[in-house]
Amino acid sequence: MKIQPIRGTHDLYGEELHKFTKIEKVVKYYANIYGFNNIITPIFESTDLFKKPLGDQSDVVLKEMYTFLDRNKSSLTLRPEYTTPIIRAAISNNLLEKTPQKLFGIGPMFRRERPQKGRYRQFNQMNFEILGSNDEASDVDLILLAKNILQDLLPEKEIILQINSLGDKDTLGKFKESLKIYFEKYKFDLSDESKEKIDNNSLRILDSKDKKDIEINANAPKISNFYSEEAKKYFNIIQSLLDQSSLNFEINNTLVRGLDYYCHTVFEFKTKDLGSQDTLIGGGRYNGLVKMIGGKDISGVGWAGGIERIMMLMHDNQVEEKKVQLIIMKKELRDYGYKLLNLLRENKIPVHFDYKYNLKKSLSFANNSNYEYVIIVGENELNNNLCILKELKTGSQKSVSFIEIIKILKK
Ligand code: HAM
Repeated sequence: MKIQPIRGTHDLYGEELHKFTKIEKVVKYYANIYGFNNIITPIFESTDLFKKPLGDQSDVVLKEMYTFLDRNKSSLTLRPEYTTPIIRAAISNNLLEKTPQKLFGIGPMFRRERPQKGRYRQFNQMNFEILGSNDEASDVDLILLAKNILQDLLPEKEIILQINSLGDKDTLGKFKESLKIYFEKYKFDLSDESKEKIDNNSLRILDSKDKKDIEINANAPKISNFYSEEAKKYFNIIQSLLDQSSLNFEINNTLVRGLDYYCHTVFEFKTKDLGSQDTLIGGGRYNGLVKMIGGKDISGVGWAGGIERIMMLMHDNQVEEKKVQLIIMKKELRDYGYKLLNLLRENKIPVHFDYKYNLKKSLSFANNSNYEYVIIVGENELNNNLCILKELKTGSQKSVSFIEIIKILKK
């Protein structure tokens, strides 16, 4: 019986896992600099946590959630995103008595999308949320944090920041109504998928990647015409704070994001190097969401980044490691070789041993695995209390004592 992996899932190992680990490291580093605390929540939650907050009519809720009945018939869902679980956890654990709460999490999310390059059914997100601040600086702080993380991980890539404001509830209500009227006129021209959205989800048509839809969208009503004074002011301050931080951005009036909970600032970091799945990081403000989930009436803002998409843009070998392999030439020399192996590990030098006792096979393995050094232990070395250190790239080698080899490899 050969069991296949589930479509849209992938295993992480080797070079890919190195990249994943590097991303985690960079995320944690900047989380500390920007004052965020880590949180880990369960991967499944009550279905109600997602249904209304993400939007009854959103694609995620309508088509993509992995929802199942537990044995006691309660409905559970594998989390499709991290914002709502983090808010749920902050409420459950009374973390919101002290605000702002700045929380971050890294972990797997689940969406039953059509798999393609950069789009999986299980994927990993890094996720940052600030709960309980209405200050424009909190939006901008998060955008700067995202920029720093991307710049650190992808220094050579051109990454574009797009921002928009969805205004307040009033703005959005009026805007959606006028979109509905506009799209009604094109109901025979829109793609089938967009047609279905006219009545309940007109905002999402603006997200469409269909060619004809894009043409129709070009003349659709603009949200900027519906801003309240307050919404206008908020968006202007965001822009001027971004300018002050010398951050380049584009205003994209059609940027609406795929989930229902947003208001005011929304933003995305995009790349031209990934085809249609081009958003690396997306987020925005979500005033009203904490209350909807059962907490205080406080506002929030955050973003999530797709770890796999970032990994696809990273070079191999970004992780520099001094890789060392020990070769014990004969099984009879195992005691001596083992003494050295243990000594190296006690001195915190990572070293691989392949249990082969065969110089040729082990050397070929070391070469194929890009090891930097091999340490060889043969009869001669045993008799003289030495070992051979060979640098694979240059082929140069020398006999050294155990004390010397530790000194060299620790450098
Ligand atoms: P989202 O735009 O749905 O937002 O997802 C954020 C990021 O996760 C995307 O930009 C993308 O990089 C990655 N992503 C999403 N779906 C997939 C997939 N199927 N395969 C691979 N990567 C994917 C949210 O999830 C919001 N919770 C963001 C947020 C946080 N807003 C406020 N706080």
